[in-house]
Amino acid sequence: MTDTTDHTTDPAPGFLTATRTFYDTVAEDYAERFRDALTTMPLERAVLTAYAELVGAGGRVADLGCGPGRTTGFLASLGLDVSGLDLSESMLAIARRENPGIRFEQGSMLKLDGHADGSLDGVVSFYSSIHTPVGELPALFAEFHRVLTPGGHLLLGFQVGDEPRHHDRPWGHPVALDFERRRPEQMAELLTSAGFTMWSSTVRQAEPDRGESTPQALLIAHRPTKA
Ligand SMILES: C[S@@+](CC[C@H](N)C(=O)[O-])C[C@H]1O[C@@H](n2cnc3c(N)ncnc32)[C@H](O)[C@@H]1O
Repeated sequence: MTDTTDHTTDPAPGFLTATRTFYDTVAEDYAERFRDALTTMPLERAVLTAYAELVGAGGRVADLGCGPGRTTGFLASLGLDVSGLDLSESMLAIARRENPGIRFEQGSMLKLDGHADGSLDGVVSFYSSIHTPVGELPALFAEFHRVLTPGGHLLLGFQVGDEPRHHDRPWGHPVALDFERRRPEQMAELLTSAGFTMWSSTVRQAEPDRGESTPQALLIAHRPTKA
């Protein structure tokens, strides 16, 4: 049977629209809150630094769901050829303002049309997969795998847990969004199913002074050089 659906007019899936609306609304407050956070996060800096060394100086890296570009800027300072991508134009406006000289583009990391197969040495998703429904994670990780060159590295950061945290009216704004929490073993299994080989899984305990209520996970995996 012929598919007569006009896919060019398909609306974006609801979760993408909700995520974009949320971050367009809170962008300036989010940027203010997290702008300098990495300076007081030694473990995150250490893992990002190890990641940059694995990728290698000058490696082509995409920071997917880059938000205001704090990780993008840090990775650039470590010698990587990094660009950023995000759903939210308001986040991107801040990222461009605060990181002159770095390329930032609007789009969804679920469909990386701007990146050919095997064209990147690194992919970073630092707390951005937390808004992708679990059923979409296999497609997300397949897309990460597609754009990485054999031997390329993925860094994935997320909150650890089983239940989402519902953020309602952050900074008093009339928006709400679920922040998914996941188990490192669950993510490692999905990454392995997508063709990745796990390299490290780092978990630190929650720091309540930072507003955290769950441990934080940073995984590094690579696309094997031989399929
Ligand atoms: C919690 S913020 C993290 C931002 C940044 N990585 C950081 O650590 O500051 C989540 C970001 O991911 C972006 N995001 C979520 N899903 C996305 C998708 N499918 N494609 C592109 N960006 C996405 C959001 O717009 C938001 O800017």
